[in-house]
Amino acid sequence: ILLLSHIMKLLTKWRSPAAVPDRCQGIEMDAVTVNEDGIPYFFHSGFLFKGFHGAAERANETFTELDEHQHLGHVDAAFRLHYEDHPTEHNNIIFFLDTQIFSYYQHKLEGGYPKNISEVYPGIPDHLDAAVECPKPECEEDSVIFFKGDEIFHFNFKTKAVEMKEFTSMPNCTSAFRFMEHYYCFHGHNFSKFDPKTGEVHGRYPKEARDFFMRCSKFSDDSDHVERERCSRAHLDAITADNEGDMFAFRGQSFICKEVNDTLKVEPIELTFKEVKSDVDAAFTFKDDLYLVKDEHVFAYRVGENHTLLDGYPKTVKEELGIEGPIDSAFSCDEHQHVHVVKGQLMYDVDMAASERNATNERSIMFPSDAAMCGPRGVTLVKGNHFYHFDTLKLLFSRAVPERHQVSLELFGCDH
Ligand SMILES: *[C@@H]1O[C@H](CO)[C@@H](O)[C@H](O)[C@H]1NC(C)=O
Ligand SMILES: *[C@@H]1O[C@H](CO)[C@@H](O)[C@H](O)[C@H]1NC(C)=O
Ligand SMILES: *[C@@H]1O[C@H](CO)[C@@H](O)[C@H](O)[C@H]1NC(C)=O
Ligand SMILES: *[C@@H]1O[C@H](CO)[C@@H](O)[C@H](O)[C@H]1NC(C)=O
Ligand SMILES: *[C@@H]1O[C@H](CO)[C@@H](O)[C@H](O)[C@H]1NC(C)=O
Ligand SMILES: *[C@@H]1O[C@H](CO)[C@@H](O)[C@H](O)[C@H]1NC(C)=O
Ligand SMILES: *[C@@H]1O[C@H](CO)[C@@H](O)[C@H](O)[C@H]1NC(C)=O
Repeated sequence: ILLLSHIMKLLTKWRSPAAVPDRCQGIEMDAVTVNEDGIPYFFHSGFLFKGFHGAAERANETFTELDEHQHLGHVDAAFRLHYEDHPTEHNNIIFFLDTQIFSYYQHKLEGGYPKNISEVYPGIPDHLDAAVECPKPECEEDSVIFFKGDEIFHFNFKTKAVEMKEFTSMPNCTSAFRFMEHYYCFHGHNFSKFDPKTGEVHGRYPKEARDFFMRCSKFSDDSDHVERERCSRAHLDAITADNEGDMFAFRGQSFICKEVNDTLKVEPIELTFKEVKSDVDAAFTFKDDLYLVKDEHVFAYRVGENHTLLDGYPKTVKEELGIEGPIDSAFSCDEHQHVHVVKGQLMYDVDMAASERNATNERSIMFPSDAAMCGPRGVTLVKGNHFYHFDTLKLLFSRAVPERHQVSLELFGCDH
């Protein structure tokens, strides 16, 4: 085996100058992870693709010791540890090569590594195909999901308990990837999005990886307009997610719609919400309808193939929300009764069941923001090019500022 791997290595070296892979040729990835800044890293036989486009680099240029310790042209699996309860390992990047595991922090191999996989992840086999982190609450406990052939192992990070799962609708994954809280299994040049708890694949998969993760021009329908909005660092005016999980973000004269299937569409506000035209102050979803607030007025739209303004609208902010406009943001947490209105650093509750609306329960939130939305997983505040996630409404009034995320990168999937 030693001799074989030596020959393989020599062969790889011998043909390497001509064999720089092109990600638009439909290659299979060995491993995929994000780095500590959320930039995706795709590994393919000794090469590394950073972000969603651009040429391959040699993986050993970024991860020197991978090559020194294990003279191998490939990475079996990789993931980023992302468990806030484990601060000493939070954001480490973990690699699996044959029987060994390498733990990197800020591109430096950690002391004591490489280790045997069995030492760190007892019960997990060698020669893995794929691995992906699964923090709570996306998995019930902070976990790592390992893939080998058609076998799937859930490794409980805290108790080290291993649970075998049957993900019957899943293909065998060659790499697995958590991106923007979604889970992807790559197989060949295709991928499927899956539910990490059940392994179920919902929707029409597999899909072509180059359409979504490679930005190869000949595969992409993206216009420059989409790219510009996706990567813009300009602040958002308003944001909301509807009950279907589609997200609408408003910026100047455009709105960006991120569908549940992660497709991004950019359209002029004027075309779709013609009564509003541009420069929205706030947007919220309440009982299936989309509300846009601009200056002194509230516009309510029934969302459908064509969004139609509901009868009786626009109404004044005072009439609809019981407060003088303009406001900064508004959101509803799927409660079917209240809308929360933010003006400066103050938040109010509006009982939408009351015939006479009144913004009550005035209290001070952590910081003023440009836009806010709420969903089953909590509240998101957007400020400049950053957003902050709060698991519960209550946390908005605490002092603990949560982790800062980048809008362009993590909300819209820009790669730079
Ligand atoms: C990376 O690997 C290539 C090919 O094996 C080699 O030529 C190069 O010197 C290596 N670079 C580093 C930084 O180790
Ligand atoms: C790692 O595995 C190798 C080969 O199975 C074994 O010789 C070695 O003792 C192991 N190291 C540790 C620290 O367990
Ligand atoms: C999936 O892996 C199993 C081995 O674990 C293998 O028997 C099966 O053929 C593989 N399926 C495909 C489609 O490659
Ligand atoms: C990729 O998916 C398409 C369907 O979207 C399927 O026809 C094709 O066989 C798949 N190819 C591979 C290599 O998995
Ligand atoms: C995403 O879903 C929308 C409909 O909701 C559809 O028009 C669009 O083609 C889908 N995109 C992809 C890539 O599946
Ligand atoms: C939506 O608008 C288009 C163009 O104005 C029209 O052709 C279509 O019938 C409308 N669809 C519905 C469901 O009203
Ligand atoms: C609105 O609420 C405030 C304080 O809770 C109260 O003083 C006021 O009378 C209310 N106004 C209406 C119109 O209900």
